Amino acid sequence: MNENLHQLRCFGCGGRIRGPEAQPDFRCASCGELFEVEYPGWTERRGPDRPNPGALKWLWRDRRCSSERLDQSGVWRFRELLPILDNFGNAVTLREGNTPLYHLPRLSKKLGIDQLFAKHQGMNPTGSFKDTGMTSALSVARERGFEWVACASTGNTSAAMAAYAARSGLKSLVLIPEGKIAWGKLSQAMDYGAVTCQLPVDFDRCLNVLTEIVRQAPIYLLNSVNPYRLEGQKTPAFEIAEAFDWNVPDHLIVPGGNLGNSSALGKGFREMQDLGLVARKPRISVIQAAGANPLAQSFARDHGATLEPVEAQTRATAIRIGNPASWRKAARVIQDTGGWCLDVTEAEIAVAKAEIGAEGLGCEPASAVTLAGLKKLRAQGAVGSGETVVLLLTGHTLKDADYTIDFHRGTLLTDGETGGIDSVVAKEISGLRRNAIPVEATPAAVLAAMRGASA
Ligand code: F0G
Repeated sequence: MNENLHQLRCFGCGGRIRGPEAQPDFRCASCGELFEVEYPGWTERRGPDRPNPGALKWLWRDRRCSSERLDQSGVWRFRELLPILDNFGNAVTLREGNTPLYHLPRLSKKLGIDQLFAKHQGMNPTGSFKDTGMTSALSVARERGFEWVACASTGNTSAAMAAYAARSGLKSLVLIPEGKIAWGKLSQAMDYGAVTCQLPVDFDRCLNVLTEIVRQAPIYLLNSVNPYRLEGQKTPAFEIAEAFDWNVPDHLIVPGGNLGNSSALGKGFREMQDLGLVARKPRISVIQAAGANPLAQSFARDHGATLEPVEAQTRATAIRIGNPASWRKAARVIQDTGGWCLDVTEAEIAVAKAEIGAEGLGCEPASAVTLAGLKKLRAQGAVGSGETVVLLLTGHTLKDADYTIDFHRGTLLTDGETGGIDSVVAKEISGLRRNAIPVEATPAAVLAAMRGASA
């Protein structure tokens, strides 16, 4: 680990420690808060360790044409802003990052916003944004000589960790809430060879159990309480800025679960501004499911000053989290950038997911909260028609095919959730549903079905 260039700073008391001094649960020994990676050399304006923004922009773009292993990673391409390894040869990469930024023409028109985009992190190697954080933190684990890595997960973290561990020959332990993760994700952890334990408790309690385990055994914790995870997860901010030719969008909208990702992206934009790569930061808004909304409640109550955990319930299982570990960091990002934190209902999530599907992109339910949240912000007048908005889609649609099929079959939502058959939402849903049609094996029957479907 490169200890000359980075240190860990406690987000609560501000205390600083060297990387290897961190406790196994990554909590501050004095105040119990989480740490952030900090690069002291960047603060001195003319210091020798402060990166040169003009040179970096050129170098990072140039690397997109390189055939070097690290240059082909959309995380390690930005390694000048990730000096967390002693030797970059220790980086474990699956060519993560470099994900597409898509324009959303139909939704732009519908919402009356010219510039609406989706940054699709579901296009990463294991199908979610977690790969960007896993490549960084698991590489630290490998460099520090750990044999075992572990995480508690609603599914995507475990899929990513298991894959990166398998690539590097480390052993991995996964704790998941029994019956509450999508099959696509569980199947990945199994296939990549993780020891996968299903616990009869929710995500928050799985993380508590794991925290006890890492205090007792030499296992490297890879949940987003690990500050090195957030270093990798900040790099999509660099990609977004680069895609807009270093003019950042007005607004970035992110789903909120354990709240590591919104914290990481906020850090990415902050560092770019501090280093002179961009002139300003976008507003960053966080959207939660109404049944798992502790931060949205906190913002409604006291603008993110306190958090009351909730008993989480949502079909968007990825964000079924009631006591988010990184809430203070995420609250700071929202406050500093002038963003909002809202929640959206199960029906709003389902409609938004189908609308993203109809753009030919698709995403998992947790990602669709971003569009549902944008619709609310637009209706409230918080987002203007001339703004450039980016939705962060965090997971691939194939992660949770059951949800999609239930939606199109009409078995996903209860009448109570849609507000009854005559409600606006129920009508929106019926316009979006595309169930498979049983048809006789004759051309005439198929053509009749086509005409019926397009009528
Ligand atoms: N979207 C997806 C698809 C996720 O898997 C997660 C988190 C989030 C959004 C929320 O991100 O936690 O950084 O606020 N999934 C974790 C997991 C908790 O275990 O896979 P966050």
